[in-house]
Amino acid sequence: MSTNVVLIPGDGIGPEVAQAARRVIDATGADINWTTRHAGEAALAHGEASLLPQATLDLISECGVALKGPCTTPIGTGFRSVNVSLRKSLDLYAAVRPIRSMANVRTRYENVDLVIVRENTEGLYGGIESEITKGVCTSTKVTTEAASRRIAEYAFRYCRDRGRRKLSVFHKANIMKFTDGMFIRCAREVHDANYRDIAFEEVIIDAGCMRMVQDPTRFDVILAENLYGDIMSDLCAGLVGGLGVTPGANIGEKGAVFEAVHGSAPDIAGKGVANPLALVMSGVMMLNWLSTSRNNPHLRACADRIRRAYDSALNDGATTRDLGGTLGTMEFAEALVSRMG
Ligand code: NAI
Repeated sequence: MSTNVVLIPGDGIGPEVAQAARRVIDATGADINWTTRHAGEAALAHGEASLLPQATLDLISECGVALKGPCTTPIGTGFRSVNVSLRKSLDLYAAVRPIRSMANVRTRYENVDLVIVRENTEGLYGGIESEITKGVCTSTKVTTEAASRRIAEYAFRYCRDRGRRKLSVFHKANIMKFTDGMFIRCAREVHDANYRDIAFEEVIIDAGCMRMVQDPTRFDVILAENLYGDIMSDLCAGLVGGLGVTPGANIGEKGAVFEAVHGSAPDIAGKGVANPLALVMSGVMMLNWLSTSRNNPHLRACADRIRRAYDSALNDGATTRDLGGTLGTMEFAEALVSRMG
């Protein structure tokens, strides 16, 4: 039974890592029927009239799942984030980013195993801004009780389903008493009502960052609003080997889009040196999600094959440059394929 998946290569290193991830996933024997659709600057380059074509959104809605490369957002000027629009348009309200120490990836820390659950649809990250008068700009942070409660429910359910023991909500409610105040109140209420078996703590984010770099093993699942979750994701990626090894998923009620935490990496784009592992790992998350949601155990077995292949490659020192190796993007993909037996 073949599974329809939308492949969005994206911008910068996106097409390179997407090609590599597809190669690896196909080599598992997973029967994926890929349809490529474009988003970001790549959409314009492919003759689309918009950065986020309606046809791309429609096909993701129809298939219920996509694997996506990064999309560039210009800094300080230009168009608004395609990623934000995509997540909002499809109501992919939960970003899930597992951060795990990898065997044979040398870092300052050992045994890091945490998950960031990020509210993905509102907060300052919505980018609602204006220049109200010359030289004075404002940014509106929208936090709703419905979205705060929904993401808290998701995060606690995730803890229970995965046997996770503690949820830490990161916030700045001492300063943002209304927005972050409501966010943590919702988390507290959801905890008290239904999840007392899971330990719960409220952590002011600045001190939380310090504690994170002192000892990441004291954290388990982290719940954060959109902007904090974005920043914490890269901080935590740095604990386990960087953006080349940090996968992610954007989950909604009607579907999911899987993408790495990293961006389009313009500094290395087109050179064939990007690490595709983060997108490959996002592909593993996708196969597991499909396996559960479509009741297809074969896809979980395919995900396990990929996991064993990259463990073996890392063990052999067969890695890309960011992890100290010498392999190019597709060479690394082939190194994984050759380890699938
Ligand atoms: P970035 O994640 O693209 O790059 C940061 C650094 O990490 C760079 O030195 C880059 O070379 C390195 N890096 C990232 N991914 C790598 C990989 N797979 N292998 C090896 N090295 C890797 O972040 P940056 O520079 O802040 O953003 C660049 C663009 O990407 C911006 O336009 C930004 O808006 C966009 N972006 C898009 C995201 C998405 O589509 N989900 C997420 C983050 C950023």
